[in-house]
Amino acid sequence: MIKKIKKPMIVFHLSVECFPVAKVGGLADVVGALPKYQKKLGVDAKVVMPWYNKPFVQEHEYEVVFDGFIHQIHHTFQVLVLKEKHDVLGYELYLVKIPGLLDRDQVYGYFDESQQFIAFQHAVLHWLSSMKIRPDVLHCHDYHTGLVPFMVEHCPDFEFLKGVKTIGTIHNGEYQGTMDWQMSNYMPRFDAWKWGFLDWNGRINPLATMIKCCNEFTAVSQGYMTELFEEAQGLQDLIKQEHQKAHGIINGIDTEVWDPQTDKMLFENYNIKTANKGKKANKEFLCNEFHLNPDLPLYAFIGRFAGEKGADMLPDIVRRSITETQGALNILILGSGNPQIENTLKQLREEFYVNFAMDLGYKEDLSHKIYAGADFLLMPSRVEPCGLNQMYAMRYGTIPIVRYTGGLKDTVADVSSGGYGLNYTFPGSDDAVHAIKRALYLYGSKKEMNNLRKIIMNLDFSWEKSAKNYITLYKKK
Ligand code: ADP
Ligand code: GLC
Repeated sequence: MIKKIKKPMIVFHLSVECFPVAKVGGLADVVGALPKYQKKLGVDAKVVMPWYNKPFVQEHEYEVVFDGFIHQIHHTFQVLVLKEKHDVLGYELYLVKIPGLLDRDQVYGYFDESQQFIAFQHAVLHWLSSMKIRPDVLHCHDYHTGLVPFMVEHCPDFEFLKGVKTIGTIHNGEYQGTMDWQMSNYMPRFDAWKWGFLDWNGRINPLATMIKCCNEFTAVSQGYMTELFEEAQGLQDLIKQEHQKAHGIINGIDTEVWDPQTDKMLFENYNIKTANKGKKANKEFLCNEFHLNPDLPLYAFIGRFAGEKGADMLPDIVRRSITETQGALNILILGSGNPQIENTLKQLREEFYVNFAMDLGYKEDLSHKIYAGADFLLMPSRVEPCGLNQMYAMRYGTIPIVRYTGGLKDTVADVSSGGYGLNYTFPGSDDAVHAIKRALYLYGSKKEMNNLRKIIMNLDFSWEKSAKNYITLYKKK
């Protein structure tokens, strides 16, 4: 008897970011890692993203697997789908290139962003339909791919894909991609009776569309999903209405990329046993680079200078924690974003150069060095759907100080209740500075610091469990 071989489930992750191809934030880390872990669990996961003029794209080999056209209003755009030849990421990577639209240097920030994202989604579905590729699941990440669940069901050109399961993941509900109804002209033909799926308060809202049309949707932590039911930038009622499809699945981290024992970006590698020595060496290196005294505790912040991250509070936090402790600590900030925050921090650097240093810009290499060399990592976030920084910090033996919100709630328990980090409730600088002082006290006890370091380095934040949870969702009837 011939044994029937069970074909693996085919999942396409659709996203505009994926590490190491193009990264702006945590979305890239998640989309870069999740498919790798799903493959280990027997799912044939692949990533489809726009083509960018970036080093990873230039440095690898590709084959053209599709060459076709899409139409937007009176324009005809060429669509090329390029597959990375050697699956160097551990899964198939497809780049969608549309000369004139998807062929740029950056991921975000262009005036025609809405048109770009519509074209990306249109092109992906056009390619799959034309080539008769019918995956089991289309997993859409954030609003940039939020129109896909609608297009699959209500665009006659994609009839072939009708019924394919669509999963939507909300990495950040603050961004919804709303656009004027005029932009509907840029969409592939759709059943006009179904316009209501696109609309939210008189505008096209791709995140709302994703929630309405997908089979299931997730937020990147249970804590954040609970918050979205109360406040979701105007979508809370919709989320309540669609509650049966809502799930919270916490992100993991790629423990192969983020491993202090093998991380090539560190000054010195270390593991739990050698953490004290290793962290000291990395701290001395960092402090030397930034002209800070390595004998003082080092607090760090890494991230986008945006309101959600509480970055506007950083100047106040820096000033107050240094003056109120009479300079008993050092603070190092790496980030960029809001120019006003950047300028205020630059001025503070002049005033507090003994205890405060900063580096503006996006620097992957330096971020790893900071996770390794800092004693504490600050996350004063107003909103934090999951947050990866706190998990990277813990893996590198750095104690997180976080505001109790979203995914930070789910990952950082406070020392006062048997946990291993410090958290505080109110999003102002008063509470942040108070937590910083509590950490200073903790730093005074070498024994307690070493103990905590061991505990956090041992915590399991790997993707295994969450990758499984997604697969369960893919299979849900
Ligand atoms: P978000 O995606 O909202 O920015 P996350 O905590 O999910 O927040 O992920 C942020 C990711 O971006 C982490 O990998 C972090 O190390 C990285 N990162 C943020 N800012 C910088 C920066 N200026 N330089 C290097 N890496 C950064
Ligand atoms: C978003 C969120 C962040 C989350 C990341 C990955 O950028 O702001 O909290 O960790 O997505 O899911």
